[in-house]
Amino acid sequence: MPKHILRLSVLIVVSLALAVSAKAYFTVDSFYRYGHYRADSVPMIAAQEPAYRGPAYCADCHSDRHGQWSSNGHKTVKCEICHGPARTHPFDPNDPDKTFKLPRPTAEDTRTLCTLCHMQLTARPLRDPPQQAWDPAVGKSAPWRTGISQVLPDEHSGGSACLMCHDPHQPKPIRFKEELVQAAQP
Ligand code: HEC
Ligand code: HEC
Ligand code: HEC
Ligand code: HEC
Repeated sequence: MPKHILRLSVLIVVSLALAVSAKAYFTVDSFYRYGHYRADSVPMIAAQEPAYRGPAYCADCHSDRHGQWSSNGHKTVKCEICHGPARTHPFDPNDPDKTFKLPRPTAEDTRTLCTLCHMQLTARPLRDPPQQAWDPAVGKSAPWRTGISQVLPDEHSGGSACLMCHDPHQPKPIRFKEELVQAAQP
């Protein structure tokens, strides 16, 4: 056998042996129990605590906000979309002495928060048929339909913060700045 073929064969055999032993060494014991999958990852994933708790959880302590939210235009927008995951609110589950407040978006924040969903975009399904105006006599606007109301902030409010006129828990009827100033008083 020519020398270079012999060298090549030795190289191939050594690489194969290395590859096979590396696979045996690095594959964890539970790997083939359910096929090509690490069986131990199933209980690991199941043991994770959900980060979100859902609006019913908030109702216990923030019943006023929950009541307002659940009977108004944002009832399909869960609290934690705007306030973040509440797993550690109000008490850290690992340390009950530690408390954690959820973020309270400021007027400045709402310019980006609200436009996440309400910015007018061509690809976004328009409210169809268009929503009817708020009727103060009846105390509500037209029934909830598909799609989402869209605004161009510059045209809609001259770029003012959304919080100035809309209460996020009850986006209609419109409130005005005086009320906001009052609401901000301790
Ligand atoms: C076990 C009672 C409890 C539950 C349940 C609870 N909270 Fe709270 N929350 C509190 C307390 C207490 C505070 C602190 C109030 C304070 O210091 O003014 C607080 C504060 C907050 C704040 C900050 C208020 C501020 O002025 O900065 C937000 C926002 C909030 N909670 C939202 C939520 C949401 C959303 C949920 C549901 C996912 C929820 N909370 C569930 C008790 C609770
Ligand atoms: C569309 C976004 C949005 C949703 C949905 C929302 N919030 Fe808020 N929340 C805000 C913003 C913005 C503020 C700050 C309001 C302000 O300063 O006037 C706030 C303030 C709060 C506060 C602080 C104190 C207060 O009463 O103003 C609490 C408590 C709170 N929200 C609880 C809730 C709960 C409970 C839910 C669900 C039932 C909820 N929020 C749903 C945006 C939202
Ligand atoms: C996660 C998406 C989402 C965010 C964030 C959000 N909204 Fe909404 N909003 C909706 C949906 C869904 C509806 C119900 C369909 C509709 O009326 O377009 C709605 C409805 C509304 C309405 C009409 C309410 C009615 O009674 O008909 C107003 C006004 C409004 N939102 C303002 C705001 C403001 C102000 C903010 C920021 C504080 C905000 N939204 C943040 C999804 C969102
Ligand atoms: C100067 C006050 C003011 C400000 C600031 C403001 N809005 Fe409005 N908004 C209104 C009024 C008035 C209506 C009409 C209410 C009605 O039809 O009953 C409205 C309606 C809406 C609607 C419902 C549209 C529809 O088709 O019914 C959405 C969504 C909305 N606003 C989102 C926003 C967002 C997002 C911001 C922040 C970028 C914002 N608004 C800032 C006054 C304001």
